[in-house]
Amino acid sequence: MSYPRIATLKTAAALRDHLERHGIPLALDDQLAAPSQTPLAMPIAVGGARVGNRFCILPMEGWDGTSDGAPSDLTRRRWRNFGISGAKLIWGGEAVAVRRDGRANPHQLVMTPSTQAAIAGLRDELIGAHRERFGPGADADLFVGLQLTHSGRYARPDVYDRPAPLAAWEHPVLDRRFPHGIRILNDDELARLEDDFVAAARLARDAGFGFVDVKACHGYLGHELLGARGRSGPYGGPLENRTRFMRRVIERIHLEVPGLQVVVRLSVFDMVPYRKRPDGVGEPEPVEGEQLSTLNAQRAVGFGVIADDEQLDAALDEPRAVLRMLERLGVRSICVTAGSPYYNPHIQRPAAFPPLDGYEPPEDPLRGVARQIRATALLKRSFPGLVIVGSAYSYLQEWLPHVAQHNVREGLCDLVGLGRIVLSYPDLPADVLAGAPLRRNAFCRTFSDCTTGPRLGLVSGCFPLDPFYVARPEAITIRDVRTETNRRIQ
Ligand SMILES: Cc1cc2nc3c(=O)[nH]c(=O)nc-3n(C[C@H](O)[C@H](O)[C@H](O)COP(=O)(O)O)c2cc1C
Ligand code: SF4
Repeated sequence: MSYPRIATLKTAAALRDHLERHGIPLALDDQLAAPSQTPLAMPIAVGGARVGNRFCILPMEGWDGTSDGAPSDLTRRRWRNFGISGAKLIWGGEAVAVRRDGRANPHQLVMTPSTQAAIAGLRDELIGAHRERFGPGADADLFVGLQLTHSGRYARPDVYDRPAPLAAWEHPVLDRRFPHGIRILNDDELARLEDDFVAAARLARDAGFGFVDVKACHGYLGHELLGARGRSGPYGGPLENRTRFMRRVIERIHLEVPGLQVVVRLSVFDMVPYRKRPDGVGEPEPVEGEQLSTLNAQRAVGFGVIADDEQLDAALDEPRAVLRMLERLGVRSICVTAGSPYYNPHIQRPAAFPPLDGYEPPEDPLRGVARQIRATALLKRSFPGLVIVGSAYSYLQEWLPHVAQHNVREGLCDLVGLGRIVLSYPDLPADVLAGAPLRRNAFCRTFSDCTTGPRLGLVSGCFPLDPFYVARPEAITIRDVRTETNRRIQ
């Protein structure tokens, strides 16, 4: 099944007609407001920090750090691009492991005393690029943080294709994907990991970052713990226990690292793991026999797991309880995301073309965009006092600014988070805010090569559209792999 390319929906009426015919609840503005009128240019306060507009750069790893976890020239280039984007909130830059065994790949950054100065340098590069482009004082309302993580089940610290999973609980479907088995982190290890988060947060503050994101999304440890219903002991079972790790890390950072804000990126809903059908399209991974009963309980073991969109509002009840807790802890901002790039990428980063280890979209990717926007709006309605950032806008391409403007004006989110689009068109926010003509040939067309690269053990980047990456040798490898995969499916 194929879906119309966004580039063929050339007018707002054509897009709206498509959405209505297929029952996809997504609204947009027909016209972009003038720079002096646009809601996207309104400043907003995040905790005590002033953020100059409503664009946020979402964290994106490049798989391009050094073996000891420091940035490379490629990392620095990406952060400079974040700086020239014009967005005033930089949600963490990229996931940085708090210690070595928490790396999702052998080139992920790690925050340690020996990498601290180089990671501080990333922030300096970003701010320097922002000033060069927008003026010497432009960073007064630029808020830059660092995303802290442990990759848990998806840890691959040594070799890109050798998983070293440190999971939160036994998962009836996902465990089968690890033929060498998984190891469950025990309670003492989790308690020690809290120390590592606090130590990394201290290093981040001293490096000049204004906040840290205690990452709780995408199937990594912080997210997996939230679904650990079947785990016994202090970190499993009732929500009080499943949030223990997050709560303690945040409480301790507030107490032990004063002057640093803490925010959370949360997968607020999820679906069961998907796999590729013989025709290449994604489907929920089936289970047999005795696993069935476990799977029937799966909705009860995960966090915010839905089978269809009717269930979304009710499934957000546990995430709402988490946000209430976070508000009580003094967290002022949340970034909404969903699912995982490993087991249901179509809900996490809606795309027309799958990455190497993915599947053809089982739904119109616009439905995936609309679902994240709806979840964000429902949470914003429940938590008017939290600054809420939305995700998954890149698939909208030419219509991204129109949907963004509508959503901010209507209060469906406070800021619009940008991921892949910034790899192909780094200064899209600056162009939108200036009312400049938009560069159609720079829009991310969701080819997923920035995900396929890392799946092959290569660096990430926009290989089809960013001239810098088009010219790199990895672009040829990725193109060849894509051609071969398409040939096998046909
Ligand atoms: C190459 C790549 C790397 C990513 N790395 C991270 C990451 O380090 N941390 C994170 O929270 N999300 C990460 N994401 C997810 C994005 O932040 C974002 O949620 C997702 O791409 C959907 O937004 P978009 O439609 O604007 O791309 C990554 C996405 C891509 C494509
Ligand atoms: S490789 Fe480029 S065009 Fe493809 S999804 Fe990534 S950013 Fe978009």
